[in-house]
Amino acid sequence: MAEFDFIRAAFGRPHPRVPIWIMRQAGRYLPEYRAVRERVSFLELCRSPELIAEVTAQPIDIFGFDAAILFSDILLPLEPMGVTVAFGEGGPTLNPPVRRPEDVLRLHPYAPSEKLACVLDGVRATKKKLGDTVPLIGFCGAPFTLASYLVEGGGSWNFTEVKRFLYNYPRQAESLLGKLAEVTGQYLKAQIEAGADAVQLFDSWGGILSPELYRRFSLPYIRTVFDICRTEHIPRILYLNFTRPFLKDLAELDCEVISVDWRTDIKEALTIADGKAIQGNLDPHLLLGSEELICEEVNRILDATAGSDGFIFNLGHGILPETPVANVRLVVDLVHSFGRTT
Ligand code: CP3
Repeated sequence: MAEFDFIRAAFGRPHPRVPIWIMRQAGRYLPEYRAVRERVSFLELCRSPELIAEVTAQPIDIFGFDAAILFSDILLPLEPMGVTVAFGEGGPTLNPPVRRPEDVLRLHPYAPSEKLACVLDGVRATKKKLGDTVPLIGFCGAPFTLASYLVEGGGSWNFTEVKRFLYNYPRQAESLLGKLAEVTGQYLKAQIEAGADAVQLFDSWGGILSPELYRRFSLPYIRTVFDICRTEHIPRILYLNFTRPFLKDLAELDCEVISVDWRTDIKEALTIADGKAIQGNLDPHLLLGSEELICEEVNRILDATAGSDGFIFNLGHGILPETPVANVRLVVDLVHSFGRTT
């Protein structure tokens, strides 16, 4: 079987066509996804291997993306540690939140192969459904991003509680992050054993830290996760929102791909992270713009990365629920028709 363009690009090897997939590509902007969600809740969906496979394959069938990403959520692995996770209209909530040093003690590591068996069954069911059409990306949240949800008790605009925790209880924060790194590393390893062809670590909120704090409270734990799940032939991707100030640090990580946001100059990212592949960097809001502007911006990114074998087209963050389906189709077609020879 020929190697997938996505896998070749992740390892910086020549490939005929620029690969594209989109963060949160299975989701509410798709009528087909909304139809499934009318029948089941989000958590029921995340716990059904058959529905996981169905929803993961939807954007592949509809748009012809070059990779599928497992349908799940970064917050699922927090429940077996002893936290209740709920998804409501206002976003996710976690109860009880971690606010005091002793709260860290009641969070226990566990074996993902046992407690997250339904997700791993979902990986196997999805692999079976996809066959050899496209590779499957497994994922989890980076320890700092998961810690921020645990301490805030949900999403946040200013991350006051997680910063308060870091500044008041740095040792307990390290203990919390260590526990999360162990669980998420084992979880990614289990996803690879179940059939995932690549893995992505989402550090959605690590960028709210100063570079010094990032080096203390995020990077070491990302290293642990990538060490645990290191396997030949399986590319490891790190996504970091607010990427720019951290590029030099990320370039030194032992992983294959850095996924950048839209505030980052893509040429600069390719230069600084020389030797690694780059993924990104279209602003998700651009997909709410005019066709003309979309063409202009997609072509700008393609021109800037032409000549590099290590580039995977993606958004700089997840796709917005209000995105018109026609604009996603436009982007995929533009990327796929961009001439590039091996
Ligand atoms: O990319 C994919 O298609 C795979 C599925 C996926 C989901 N969440 C499904 C989802 C992935 C990779 C995620 C990752 C995730 N989840 C992240 C990291 C990426 C990022 O956006 O920064 C984060 C921070 C979360 C936490 C989370 N889950 C939030 C903040 C929310 C609510 C906001 C929202 O978009 O609704 C969720 C819920 C969620 N996760 C939905 C989906 C499709 C919407 C639930 C629904 O169907 O009602």
